[in-house]
Amino acid sequence: MTNSRIVKSQDAGEQAEATYSETAVDHMRNPRNVGMISNADGQASITGPCGDTMEIWLRVEDGVIKQASSWTDGCGATIAAGSVTTELAKGKSAGEAFRITQQDVLKALGGLPDESVHCALLAANTMKEAVKDYLAFRNEPWKRAYRKC
Ligand code: FES
Repeated sequence: MTNSRIVKSQDAGEQAEATYSETAVDHMRNPRNVGMISNADGQASITGPCGDTMEIWLRVEDGVIKQASSWTDGCGATIAAGSVTTELAKGKSAGEAFRITQQDVLKALGGLPDESVHCALLAANTMKEAVKDYLAFRNEPWKRAYRKC
């Protein structure tokens, strides 16, 4: 991995050392697009096998993602993955955002340590579910009021 440095991170109360790219560190420390979008056009929340949860909200206009945001209770790598995934989605069509992959997220972050690659998968999968949510309700948005939470 080029352009990387050692960053201390704390996971599960243990101090671990991992190598992250400058881009990943930037997204960890300055996450973009954080927090809920009220009355979002698409929304999804997924808890991964590690127990961390990610939530993504979308604002879609004329089929184009104008705004995307995320939240997670996960580790720094998960924060970075959510941040960069929302950046990747903005300006894309719903279909293009649906096709954002784990590899796309990893590439945009300049890679992640092996033990954190699943964080990119959680972000990509949450984006897919948020797009599916948008597609399910786009023609009848009033039905959101009746769905089970
Ligand atoms: S450690 Fe599980 S998503 Fe980051």
